[in-house]
Amino acid sequence: MNNDPTARRTQTFADPTALARAAAEELTRLAVAAVKSKGYVTVALSGGSTPKVLYGFLADEPAFRDRFPWAQTHFFFGDERHVAPDDKDSNFRMAKEAMFDKLAGTLPAENIHRVRSEGPDAVKVAADYAGEVAAFFDGKGGGSTGASSLPRFDVVLLGMGPDGHTASLFPGTTGLREMDTLVTSAWVDKFSTYRITFTPPLLRAGAVILFLVAGKDKTDVLATVLEGKSEPDRYPSQGISADGGETLWLIDTAAAARLKG
Ligand code: 6PG
Repeated sequence: MNNDPTARRTQTFADPTALARAAAEELTRLAVAAVKSKGYVTVALSGGSTPKVLYGFLADEPAFRDRFPWAQTHFFFGDERHVAPDDKDSNFRMAKEAMFDKLAGTLPAENIHRVRSEGPDAVKVAADYAGEVAAFFDGKGGGSTGASSLPRFDVVLLGMGPDGHTASLFPGTTGLREMDTLVTSAWVDKFSTYRITFTPPLLRAGAVILFLVAGKDKTDVLATVLEGKSEPDRYPSQGISADGGETLWLIDTAAAARLKG
């Protein structure tokens, strides 16, 4: 795990909208660069409120929509709720409505790799998605990290909850200790449900990890996560940074209020 704060950059923005706009710019820049160097780009999407604004910017604003390499982009989901794809809680549904539906004819349907979360058995749903991720990267002849055979997403988008969770890695849950699989299902007591989530090793293999964190309900936990003592089991987002890559925290002023650095 790379907990070296010097390998991490933080940028602060006036409000969630400015943050989402900066994230759209950064994601567009990274996608264009990846396509230029290898012909395609892989992006792991997250759920959450700020990403929704980001997805809207990408699909709606010509400044992004016209530059983004849609046809060469493969979208995956870093986590998903154990619900049908048309459920109001589905991360896929959120991304579909905010972004995919607006790109018919531009973004090929086969570039959208959703979690088949309608399956009744969360363990199987996670295993199947792990298989899809692995098969995609194998088919591309690797795209793996140097040190291991893990798939290396070009960009991993993440948020952070007020309890310090990220993706669907919640404090004290089993997913945090999954080191041998790419995707796992984890029971989340506080929501009485399973979530499907990338495991820490797959998240950390990302070339660039973009955390999007906004709102005053994140102020205290963000100060602990970025500047407090290391307790990744209690604050899962503390344990996620890009091994050998770049970790960028985009934060709004409300969430950043207690940061010293
Ligand atoms: C999800 C997420 C989750 C989210 C955080 C922050 O599926 O809900 O992927 O990890 O990013 O809960 O969400 P907000 O940005 O809405 O606060």
